[in-house]
Amino acid sequence: MSERILIVGATGQLGLALRRQLDLDQRSAVALGPHDLDLTAFDVGDRIAGLEPTAVINAAAWTDVRAAEQATNRQLVWEVNCHGPRRLAECCAELGVPLVHVSTDYVFDGQADQPYKEDAPTGPLQAYGMSKLDGEREVLRVYPESLIARTSTVYGDRPEGPPHYVDAILAQAREHGALEVVRPPVSSPSYTVDIAAGLIHLLDAQARGVVHVVNDGAASRLELAAEAVRLAGFDFEVGERAAPPDDLERPDYSVLDTSRYRELTGRSMRPWQDALRDYVCGLDG
Ligand SMILES: NC(=O)c1ccc[n+]([C@@H]2O[C@H](COP(=O)([O-])OP(=O)(O)OC[C@H]3O[C@@H](n4cnc5c(N)ncnc54)[C@H](OP(=O)(O)O)[C@@H]3O)[C@@H](O)[C@H]2O)c1
Repeated sequence: MSERILIVGATGQLGLALRRQLDLDQRSAVALGPHDLDLTAFDVGDRIAGLEPTAVINAAAWTDVRAAEQATNRQLVWEVNCHGPRRLAECCAELGVPLVHVSTDYVFDGQADQPYKEDAPTGPLQAYGMSKLDGEREVLRVYPESLIARTSTVYGDRPEGPPHYVDAILAQAREHGALEVVRPPVSSPSYTVDIAAGLIHLLDAQARGVVHVVNDGAASRLELAAEAVRLAGFDFEVGERAAPPDDLERPDYSVLDTSRYRELTGRSMRPWQDALRDYVCGLDG
């Protein structure tokens, strides 16, 4: 049977990078945006089965962390982040094809003082993290051979939707010529190009269970902003400001350990600074 990798959520920033990487590798992929395949549709399994995939990568998610807190959105958030992935997993189990499901560092409570390993206790602080953790559990419950790839602080070419942190910082730098940001949280900033390549290496290695797929190292938001501004050639220092009051809880520290990724693939994820350089230096204007 010839290869046919389905990308679900193909219009998101990670979905776009997956499309590009598979294209570069000259591998056969079918890219499905939300208008081609709605994860919340009851017949999602039949639709997937009809496409006869040899593997499925799910990059679709409800990713608006603040909006996920609104009671009126709760049901849809769980549909997209938990029940839809479960239906995908049921379908992949029936077809006997690999499933890669993408998850998040927000499954952790952020109280650690060293990088989180895959089996570290979880404790999400907000609805988004809870829905993603429920999604992980449901996917593994119905199809234990699935791969759950957790990533963090994602940036890359973004075809649509609100800007990610790095783009927002650079837009402010261009507009104001100065910048002050809040230092925390500390996480593993990760470039979509590297995550996409990592997911494909894991798929090829027939990896299962939970694996952390992030660029190596740790950065606070202040360090990430300062490095992006420096790489973009601005000649000012990014200042630090106090965090404004906010009732949305996020993990203070969510650096992810990538040793399992290295063991499974025999490859390393490159340091976040190298990945950020590629992204910022590749931007137009
Ligand atoms: N962004 C981050 O910083 C971050 C950090 C850690 C983990 N992650 C995880 O990484 C993965 C990829 O995130 P991303 O940054 O690429 O997100 P993104 O750019 O927001 O892309 C998510 C995609 O999912 C689609 N989608 C939403 N609801 C859908 C539905 N019902 N059916 C089908 N597709 C639907 C979205 O379409 P619309 O835009 O039309 O809604 C969008 O194309 C997600 O699992 C996310 O939880 C992200």
